[in-house]
Formats: sequence, structure tokens, C-alpha cells
Amino acid sequence: MKTACKRPVALFDSGMGGLTVFKAVAACLPGEDLIYLGDTARLPYGTKGRDTIVRYTLKAAQKLLEYDVKMLVTACNTATAAALPTLCEHFVGLPVLGVVEPGALAAAKASRNGRIVVIATEATIAGGAYQQAIARLRPEAYVLGRACTLFVPLAEEGWIGGALVEGIAHRYLDDIFSPPVTAPRPDTLLLGCTHFPPLLPALKNVVGAHVHIVDSAATTAEHIRAELAARALLRGEGAIGRHRFLTTDNPVRFVRTGSLFLGRTLKSAEVELVDL
Ligand code: DGL
Repeated sequence: MKTACKRPVALFDSGMGGLTVFKAVAACLPGEDLIYLGDTARLPYGTKGRDTIVRYTLKAAQKLLEYDVKMLVTACNTATAAALPTLCEHFVGLPVLGVVEPGALAAAKASRNGRIVVIATEATIAGGAYQQAIARLRPEAYVLGRACTLFVPLAEEGWIGGALVEGIAHRYLDDIFSPPVTAPRPDTLLLGCTHFPPLLPALKNVVGAHVHIVDSAATTAEHIRAELAARALLRGEGAIGRHRFLTTDNPVRFVRTGSLFLGRTLKSAEVELVDL
């Protein structure tokens, strides 16, 4: 067994969206070994019921524990919203972090007028986790949630811009950001799904340049660093972290599409097929 601080940090998502968080964590903590699991065989989680999401998430977490990890990060809003308390109960002693609290913090900080729109999967919006987390940070804030289900397959397909994508975004968001009457408009759009950041330029075109668009990647990375430091689990200076990627289906597709979320070309040798 490795000494505690040399063990890897595990990140998990239903698919490739969590790679947007992985990218931020790798930049923030270049010395850490990171292991990522995308449960592509069961994607999407966001249209499933809560019990199913909890069951899938527990299985994924169980798998990652086989790699002797020092921390588990649920880099999936849907899994965080549905299963974080259950994960914490199951894996006593293992630090388990999610992306909802960091995302809520980013939005609460970014908004000037306290009118925040959260876009996420159906399950995340229905569970109200973001609405509650922002209310704890800024009780006076007005938070509106909107499920944008189609953004997940669009991003997984690599369709992140152009007329079709913007047309779908207009359909989801125009009644909020371009209402016919003069009303106080939201000034912040929170991407409450780790699949959504690649769509950011298209979303900016749709909601307007004056709207702050925030996601949980950078704040989650900072949160991970702070938690590792607080638990004396940070790997020492000078180390170069190794990265490993696991997928539950079709590694070839993971390599192709994952590169878009990660912002660098993945090599086939880096991606391993696993079963849960
Ligand atoms: N990446 C997931 C999230 O952040 C959503 C994708 C899915 O529906 O499985 O919520």
C-alpha cells in the first residue's frame, strides 16, 4: 500500500462531462495522480429516477475504491445531487466531495443582482439541490432552475455550436433571458451539469454577453485542494501526477469525445474498459 498522500484522487461522472472538472483539477493540482471513471454504459443519469442514480453511483464508487484512492470526487451534478449523502454514509473515513456546493458558491459570488438561473439535467433540477445550496449562501437570491436535457447528448456527440445547438438553447432559455416585458433579468447562468461547459460559446450567443456564465470546475478544484491540505493528504511539491481513465463502454468513443471535454488529445493507451 502507498503512503496516504501518494494515493490517487478519484473522479467520477456518468460519462465524459466530468472531464471538464478533471481538467481543472489537473491544472490546480499537477502533482496529484488522478483516476477518472466515466460510466458511459449507463449514461444518461439525468433522466433516471433518484433510486437508480444512487444505485449506479454506489457501484461506480465501489469500483474506484479498488484503486486505493485517497479521495472520491463526484464530478457529476446529477450523482452529487442524488447520492452524495449516501456515499458519505457508505464510505466512512474516505473524503467524498461533490460539485453542487462549489457550483453554488461560484454562482452566488458571480451574481450582482441575485437573480440566478441554473441549467442542469432533469433529475438535478427536480431534486432542488442547487436551489437549496444557493439559498444557504445567499438567502435573498432568486434562483430559477431549468432542465436542458438535450444538451447532454449534444455535448457527447461533439455538437457544441452552430445554428442547431443555438436553436435548441433558444428554445430552452428565451422565455427567461428574453422575456417580452421589461422585467429584472437574471445576470448569472450556472452550468449545473458537467457536460455543459463545451457549449459555453453557443450559450453566450444565446443569453447575451452581459450574463455571467459560471460552472463548478474551478471552484471544485480549489475545494479539493483545500480538503487535501486540511487532511495532510496533498502530495509534495515536485511530483508529476499520472492520469488514468476508465470507462464502462466503448473506449474508442471515449478517446474521441473525451478529448473535447478534456481539451487535449487522449491516447488509446490511457483509457481502460472496466465493468461495474
Ligand atoms: N454530467 C452529468 C451532470 O453533471 C449529467 C449527464 C447525465 O445525464 O448523465 O449532471
